[in-house]
Amino acid sequence: MLESLKSVVDLKPFERDRTARRLSKAANVDDLRKIAKRRLPAGVFDYIDGAAEDESAMARNVSRFGDRTLVPRVLRDVSNIDASTDILGASAPMPLIIAPTGFPRIAHPDGELATARSAAEAGIPFSLSTMGTRSIEEVAEVCPGRKWFQVYVWRDRELTKDMLARCKENGFEALYITVDTAVLGRRERDVRRGMSLPPKLGLDTFIDGALRPGWTLDFLRNDPIVFSNVAVSTERLGNSTADGTSAVSLADYINSQFDPRLSWDDVAWIREQWDGPVILKGVQSVADAKLAAAEGIEAIALSNHGGRQLDSSPAIIDLVAPVADAVGGEIEIYCDGGVRRGSDIVKAVALGATAAMIGRPHLYALAAGGKQGVDQVLEFFLDGVEQTMALSGVGSIGEIDRSLIG
Ligand code: GLV
Repeated sequence: MLESLKSVVDLKPFERDRTARRLSKAANVDDLRKIAKRRLPAGVFDYIDGAAEDESAMARNVSRFGDRTLVPRVLRDVSNIDASTDILGASAPMPLIIAPTGFPRIAHPDGELATARSAAEAGIPFSLSTMGTRSIEEVAEVCPGRKWFQVYVWRDRELTKDMLARCKENGFEALYITVDTAVLGRRERDVRRGMSLPPKLGLDTFIDGALRPGWTLDFLRNDPIVFSNVAVSTERLGNSTADGTSAVSLADYINSQFDPRLSWDDVAWIREQWDGPVILKGVQSVADAKLAAAEGIEAIALSNHGGRQLDSSPAIIDLVAPVADAVGGEIEIYCDGGVRRGSDIVKAVALGATAAMIGRPHLYALAAGGKQGVDQVLEFFLDGVEQTMALSGVGSIGEIDRSLIG
């Protein structure tokens, strides 16, 4: 009796680490999203998960990846798969970049420090946002790996200039100029909830917070969430730009601080201040890709900001092939929006992208389990790329081309 019981009972040792136990239930990005939804107050989750207006651009970003098929080749020894590739002249273990995202510490108190550490260990470039919640200096201290910075052009140009100087002092390698945020998109979940940044503990968030004690205790116990990059530069410059010590709505903040006159002249101005590679993030047309290449920009990130800006914008994966046909040999092309699996990365590369980027997936992972969550999601993407390559009959990234696309 005991013997037959033993043969059917699963005697796996009990996982004592609560985070590892929670993460062990997540098989993919959508599972991490569900855990994030359970753990975060609704307003915080909706800020991360939501997009502009009807959220159709966000949905299209994901669904158009699903619509693409791969045509696998068979009987091609795939016992050795190498997913490594060059991004901006240095090797990465797979064609993936951590996209810059605002306010990661609302997902988890370790925020960028967790994600940057994880990225450095995995050899993946990590991108810090101007609207980050850990500073350029704090990230540099924990991240010996590749660090890129995303800059907005402020009405106050001195602020932008100071951030660039700090990036240089702290070993940041490349700079994104985000070009899709002249004004902020209308994120209707945030409008409904009156979402502010940092989040306020008002009556409704308080009730919601009581239902999510893990997040609420972390929020109360840890140092306040501020716009750390802005805070350091405003202190250095002695100016008084709001740094998040009092809560603001993102729309009011961006619309009052960022310069809607942003144009190609500003791109030229930034290139005068910065001698490293520049990536234009938010290009969504062949015409602008051609202008970027003609300007001698090193890379473009095809991106509609995860569907958070213009809701009628094209699905990002649909832009890759036409843009690659127009400027492929001249400029690196990244693909940002809707990447949820390793197979999506392979599809992006097959259509002509140098690498793909992930935004929400790393935030869901961070919310689900801090650094352990990010480690898990990076491993999930690497496994997914390698498995897709093996099942498609390609052994290296160089062998992936458009003939793989159905
Ligand atoms: C910030 O860039 C955001 O999309 O919320």
